Amino acid sequence: TDFGTPASKSEKLVTLTIDGQPVTVPEGTSIMRAAMEMGTKIPKLCATDMVDAFGSCRLCLVEIEGRPGTPASCTTPVAPGLNVKTQTPRLKQLRKGVMELYISDHPLDCLTCAANGDCELQDMAGAVGLREVRYGMDGANHFKADSPLALPKDESNPYFTYDPAKCIVCSRCVRACEEVQGTFALTIEGRGFDSRVSPGQHDAFLDSDCVSCGACVQACPTATLQEKSVIEIGQPEHSVVTTCAYCGVGCAFKAE
Ligand code: FES
Repeated sequence: TDFGTPASKSEKLVTLTIDGQPVTVPEGTSIMRAAMEMGTKIPKLCATDMVDAFGSCRLCLVEIEGRPGTPASCTTPVAPGLNVKTQTPRLKQLRKGVMELYISDHPLDCLTCAANGDCELQDMAGAVGLREVRYGMDGANHFKADSPLALPKDESNPYFTYDPAKCIVCSRCVRACEEVQGTFALTIEGRGFDSRVSPGQHDAFLDSDCVSCGACVQACPTATLQEKSVIEIGQPEHSVVTTCAYCGVGCAFKAE
């Protein structure tokens, strides 16, 4: 199970209420993780317990009694006595709107996509109940020559491909490269519609500082970074969690 954010190592405990149920967790735990640990799933795209919370996708919004707005639960730590709501009609509507925007800027080839059935974007669209997208897929972005949707796939790495058209710019791969592997091979360049993951100043992944550890592939919630073996032969029965070029054993690299 992915609890959304890394576990807190604090020995001090905090009790709060989530959706009417009291929950006690270590100080420093995110509201998202506290909710997930008690079995309440909060939709998320940019959070994973592999790396620190970033708060970019805005899908995990919650309401906290006495506080204005709808903070992201992945970046908001628990506090004693908080009364959190995760499933109000307002939150459901906000999440649906966010998902609608993501899907409006994403190729709709799920049935033939290598990640079909193992795609968090697909899962979250279902989780928020998205049935239709009001925004056309013919927005300006799709016709700009330098749009990520118009860029070719990078297939230079022998183990995985990078397809900019499927990137939701959650930056999980960039953070995994830094926090899990300790390499700084990836970055986000550009702004708004033009923002994209790139291998730094290099044109191709293979020319970058990438060591092919597979942390970015493991962290990617879509088919943007995809193992070549999965593309060729389909999803394995038992997933290997690394594409490390140095041993290929499938070691669990999750940092604790
Ligand atoms: Fe919290 Fe993306 S999961 S903002």
